[in-house]
Amino acid sequence: MQSITIHGGDIDLILQNRNLKKENIVNFSGNVNPIGPSETVKNAIIKNIDKISQYPDVEYKNLRSSIGKYLNVKPEYIIPGSGATELISIFIKTIKPKNTIIIAPAYSEYEKEITMSGGNAFLFPLDEKLNFDLNLNKLFKFINDETDLIILCNPNNPTGTAIGKYNAEKLLDFCSKRNIYVMVDETYVEFTENLTEISMTSIVNKFKNLFIVRGTAKFFACPGIRLGYGICSNTKLLSEIFRLKEPWSVNVFAEIAGNCIFNDSEYIEKTRMLINNERKKISAFLSEIKNIKFYPTLSNFFLIKILKNDITSDFIFEEFLKCGFVIRDASSFAFLNNRYIRFCIMLPEQNNKLINKLKEILK
Ligand SMILES: Cc1ncc(COP(=O)(O)O)c(C=O)c1O
Repeated sequence: MQSITIHGGDIDLILQNRNLKKENIVNFSGNVNPIGPSETVKNAIIKNIDKISQYPDVEYKNLRSSIGKYLNVKPEYIIPGSGATELISIFIKTIKPKNTIIIAPAYSEYEKEITMSGGNAFLFPLDEKLNFDLNLNKLFKFINDETDLIILCNPNNPTGTAIGKYNAEKLLDFCSKRNIYVMVDETYVEFTENLTEISMTSIVNKFKNLFIVRGTAKFFACPGIRLGYGICSNTKLLSEIFRLKEPWSVNVFAEIAGNCIFNDSEYIEKTRMLINNERKKISAFLSEIKNIKFYPTLSNFFLIKILKNDITSDFIFEEFLKCGFVIRDASSFAFLNNRYIRFCIMLPEQNNKLINKLKEILK
């Protein structure tokens, strides 16, 4: 059977085509916290299993209050949804942008949603020579009178780069004066070492044109529960999104998870320590490997460019698969090609094995 939506990193399809089982592989392509979901969340769901017979609160008052406390943002500014994906989709469906600029290479859903809603998507290329850092002045020149939305992932999948609050404010100011919305996908933001410097939640009050999207799939390792949320101080726009959104799209278990997940400071701290340590260790290892260029990452994954002429991303992908590792062949991202691979940070032992294998392939 064909999967319905095919993502570049569709692991089920990859394994199905090769007769491999999920339990026998290490998934370096999913960008999910390797610690797995917190015990607090699992226990809360088990304890409340009988709530399966109830509808969730249609206004998600407790959930919005939990998220609000976590972010230090008013609950009125929060809109829960079924994963970051639903928020991306419903925001675009609501504002119906005609001409969107997507900072790219980027997650493929943005362009898909824009096109599906009948708008045009223009990709603004991040410059490889600048290690994919965003050149704001170039972006300002790229923006024109027709532009009505800018989409930015911060930190960006697949480059791992991010803009800080200083540049974010410059961008939001520029766009606000021209009636341009800015959607910022912060799916990976909790993995950054300097979270308060990168996340835009603390400036959400200041900009009515800012819509932030977040989820629990990656940092909290709960992709199956489909809990995401949007943050926006434009309450008129939020009401319109609520009006168009399906009611109860966040199921009762996602609601239960969301009421405890953000308080689990021990889990949050443990994850941040692991990712910070491994990011430093892997960066040091990668800098010793010949025939690659790697890009400084602020997230939980690394983008690598292969510099050896006769080795391509699909070859590396297959070589890793032989030892049970699934990485992301990044050739399908806009502006990248078959010289790029991406892998995420897993547990220390697994990361060591991956690096050793990469050394062996490239020697
Ligand atoms: C940048 C980005 N945003 C959103 C998502 C989807 O998140 P969710 O599972 O919360 O819908 C992904 C998934 O890979 C992603 O990489």
